Amino acid sequence: MFDVGVLAIGSYVPTKKLTNFDFEKTLETSNEWIVERTGIRERYIAEKNEKASDLALKAVQNLLSKNLVQKEEIDMIILSTATPDYKGYPSTACILQAKIGLKNIPCFDITAACSGLIYAISMANAYIKSGLYKNILVVSTEKNSEILDWQDRNTAVLFGDGASALVLSNTSKNIIKKIEISSDGENHKVLVVDPFIKMEGKEVFKYAVKEGTRLIEKVCLETNLTKEEIDIFIPHQANTRIIDGIAKKLKVDKNLFYSNVEKYGNTSSASIGIALDEVNREQKLDLSSKVALFSFGAGLSSGVLLFEYNEKI
Ligand code: COA
Repeated sequence: MFDVGVLAIGSYVPTKKLTNFDFEKTLETSNEWIVERTGIRERYIAEKNEKASDLALKAVQNLLSKNLVQKEEIDMIILSTATPDYKGYPSTACILQAKIGLKNIPCFDITAACSGLIYAISMANAYIKSGLYKNILVVSTEKNSEILDWQDRNTAVLFGDGASALVLSNTSKNIIKKIEISSDGENHKVLVVDPFIKMEGKEVFKYAVKEGTRLIEKVCLETNLTKEEIDIFIPHQANTRIIDGIAKKLKVDKNLFYSNVEKYGNTSSASIGIALDEVNREQKLDLSSKVALFSFGAGLSSGVLLFEYNEKI
């Protein structure tokens, strides 16, 4: 079995910013309500002709510009999105492959909503561990603006667009210690896209707090770590009240939970990668920090990933 670690990261958000005050002009809502209930202040929205694969390409270009890995070394692309360029096929991963200029490698999409990044990494992890592949590009790209009902104040104010990209590799850098993924299909109706996002907010909220807590406790138990030994938690960025709720339930200082939801809103499966890239870029992590990423979302689905940060990505 080969070790698997995070070799490089990149991210991208579009340039057009939409603030809560902009929503005050079109919906019966207020900046105050949105900030108090969600922590969100602004989000970025893609241009009409900017597709999920375009956002993904920008995140990958950002990753490659760091020169930690060459594009020719990538031997697979796994892409998570709820807003593929085409509704059925081809996969957005194949479109991205062409845009990057890579040939003769397998590329495919997965669907696990906001947990998509951790699900995709869990697949990359298995391929690399077994020795079948060496450097896998995992991309999460979401054009949520295209699946929002802009007249629905319950959902329109919550989401934003963005993308993140990671290369997982057989490396001694930033080794993954544990990944745990789970689903609860019984509750698939509480968060659906048909054709726009519809959500029973309270149900999702309850699930996120309960499931986030359960999975983090499980991963700690199975890796013989106490919660206190984890240096930073990077949760899916949906809502500060959910994040605070999990911290409270775990009895962990909420300041150890990283949050940037106020700047980007909920960018679905891209959010954890965007947050990790920010933490890495702004040097908020000490070397040998134990980092726990965790997600929750439609499906319902959830995931936790624990890795040790020992080199900048
Ligand atoms: N502005 C003003 N009022 C709003 C509003 C908005 N943007 N959105 C909803 N409301 C209203 C509701 O219509 C409701 O009004 P009513 O009592 O007249 O019916 C009132 O606010 C309270 O709604 P409620 O659903 O009880 O609010 P809440 O405290 O549960 O907060 C969410 C709503 C969506 C913020 C909250 O449920 C939540 O964060 N859920 C998780 C959502 C999430 O993050 N999903 C993605 C996970 S991947």
